[in-house]
Amino acid sequence: MIRKTFTVLLLTAACLRASAQEVSLSKGWKLAVGDSAQWASPTYNDGHWQTADLNENWERQGHPNYDGFGWYRTKVVIPSSLKEKSFLKDSLRLSLGTIDDNDEVYLNGKLIAKYGGHGGTIKDGNYGGRVYNIAVNNPAILWDKENVLAVRVFDTGGDGGMVSSGFGSVFNITMADVMDHVWVNTDADFVYGDNNSLSKSVKLVTSNHYQYSGKLAFKVTDPENGAVLYEKSNDATFTSGKPFTYSFSIARLAKRSYVITYSFTDTKSGKEIVHTETTPYILTPYPTAKVKINGADVFGARPGHPFLYLIPATGKKPLVYKADGLPQGLTLNAATGVISGSVAQKGDYPVTFTVSNTLGAKAKKFTITIGDNIGLTPALGWNSWNAWGLSVNDEKVRISAKAMIDKLSSHGWAYINIDDGWEAENRAADGKIVTNSKFPDMKGLADFVHGLGLRMGIYSSPGPRTCGGFLGSWQHEDQDAQTYSDWGIDYLKYDWCSYSDIAPKPDLDGLKKPYQVMQASLGKVNRDIMYSLCQYGWGKVWEWGADVNGNSWRTTGDIQDTWQSMSTIGFNQGAAAPHAQPGHFNDPDMLVVGKVGWGPSLHNTRLTFDEQYTHISLWSLLASPLLIGCDMGHLDAFTLSLLTNDEVLAIDQDALGKGASQYVKKDDYQIWVKDLKDGGKAIGLFNTSDKYQTISLDKNDPAISGYTKFRDAWQQKYIVSTGAALSAKVAPHGVLLLRVEK
Ligand code: GLA
Repeated sequence: MIRKTFTVLLLTAACLRASAQEVSLSKGWKLAVGDSAQWASPTYNDGHWQTADLNENWERQGHPNYDGFGWYRTKVVIPSSLKEKSFLKDSLRLSLGTIDDNDEVYLNGKLIAKYGGHGGTIKDGNYGGRVYNIAVNNPAILWDKENVLAVRVFDTGGDGGMVSSGFGSVFNITMADVMDHVWVNTDADFVYGDNNSLSKSVKLVTSNHYQYSGKLAFKVTDPENGAVLYEKSNDATFTSGKPFTYSFSIARLAKRSYVITYSFTDTKSGKEIVHTETTPYILTPYPTAKVKINGADVFGARPGHPFLYLIPATGKKPLVYKADGLPQGLTLNAATGVISGSVAQKGDYPVTFTVSNTLGAKAKKFTITIGDNIGLTPALGWNSWNAWGLSVNDEKVRISAKAMIDKLSSHGWAYINIDDGWEAENRAADGKIVTNSKFPDMKGLADFVHGLGLRMGIYSSPGPRTCGGFLGSWQHEDQDAQTYSDWGIDYLKYDWCSYSDIAPKPDLDGLKKPYQVMQASLGKVNRDIMYSLCQYGWGKVWEWGADVNGNSWRTTGDIQDTWQSMSTIGFNQGAAAPHAQPGHFNDPDMLVVGKVGWGPSLHNTRLTFDEQYTHISLWSLLASPLLIGCDMGHLDAFTLSLLTNDEVLAIDQDALGKGASQYVKKDDYQIWVKDLKDGGKAIGLFNTSDKYQTISLDKNDPAISGYTKFRDAWQQKYIVSTGAALSAKVAPHGVLLLRVEK
């Protein structure tokens, strides 16, 4: 596997803490590629092995393109003082940085830990940080003596080895502490009661066998002035397998977030853990029974190719759909709103949609553009990666498609995209790409998605392997494009990954090349396949992504569900933004709202609710593809409200296709401005500080001079603004998203 994590300096924790509580493992390792049972043995002589560099994968240590087994060995004295000085005294904690991809750990010849996959073998993909707890009475540990630690690594493809990376850069031995492995699980949903209440249950959880007993303090504060609104202290006891559940109900106050602090103090040890979260508040107005037609104003398709468009409309069901002026070759299903067929002649076809229900009818003008350019507005859809990682399967995709039809497609959401993890490890005898067992019938799945009126996406790499170690399209580009077309694929994310094995130090032409190859292959098939480039922004891809016919191109490395990650990515799109245009958009990576996890177990996004408003507002201003990255089978009320605000989505989907520019950049706030097709502008006033602040824009400022109407896009109402400046009090890490009109 290969990763684009920002290489973090190997800051060995040993430098930071007293050595008595920790034994560093950051130096002294030996490395050999290959595999032998003897290499686990303490008596094996590894004197002729190379010295391992934990800052590099093994490819860069003299083993280019090597996939398979390799071993790391080191010698370490484990002092019994570690144990004596610790409170819990029950287990040693071994931190081994990041393993690419799987490992087995031997101490003095005995297997003490392994991460060969969730119940799988060492050959199943499980890239990531490694921390193992070993019971202190494990006979493999030789206290106060030299121990031989041997780690057997298996690399499924791409980069390999035991390395320091952003995912886990610590190499050491410590004792498990009493508050390690204790956490406050706040992943349950908030419940909105009819009586204006907000309730929730949280849990104190541990995997330690120690009996925790103490106080859980619960506190709600107003972030603006620090005032304490609620406070309560509770007795709490818990241990492994027996969590403590705390349920509360508070009044739903104003339309803003409050801060909840949970602090547990264990009486015996005196140790404490503190966890905070914020309360949700919904700004999106509740949908009405009257008909509303949503979504973009344009849709593009290529001549002669299959056409599929679902008219997005909300209102009390049943809805009846009508479309006047459809070009020849297209038909509308009046009950579902799905337009299908194919159009032979290029041209712009003005169409009028009318949708009605028992309460009345609404009409909307729309343009169908038949030509070479597709993806005229940024893609709105779902992608499996930020939720399920490599654990995505057919069932999860179907659940997502169902949820999209039930809850989101009426607002314009249309793509169901499968990321990495669908491919097999080997091609068929004729070279054809095949799925793995999690996707028994890709054509059947695409038919199901199309049957709902949605479109389906898939993922590959120009290299021999994807980032997850599965098959890539290297030297099979034509064949793969044809297979995708045969299956009915509408969207391809094409991720550089192991192409570095083919082109280790590419110049600009080298960066473009694999994308041109697939561009040509996609050009040969009789189907519109949206082309989503993913190479992390290398070579200023925004300057040439449109030339290789990319409908979008990633401008960054992988996003994570933290303020640090989201805000760094979002507020650094200034250079790329001017390159957005209809059919070709910057992609600052997928959304991290809702339940995310990058694997089989999910957690609530770690973004606060205000940060989530910022995320969706900023991505919409930037005209980014909006690809939901959460469990669609579990959309809570807040997440749903974030994703179904038609006035916010309209900013993203504006037909002019412009990306916002960074208009004001100060240490603690920023203002981004986006031109809109109707001559208006969308403006984001972002508070990047962690305190409430008032952000103002002078009414004579060129950004708004001449504009008289200011509309709060999230609340969908006009703001009354008197005086010389437009001013707004904005929450920490929050936003006011405006649409200004003449
Ligand atoms: C890379 C991409 C991610 C995702 C994974 C899949 O890290 O940047 O978006 O597609 O690969 O392995």
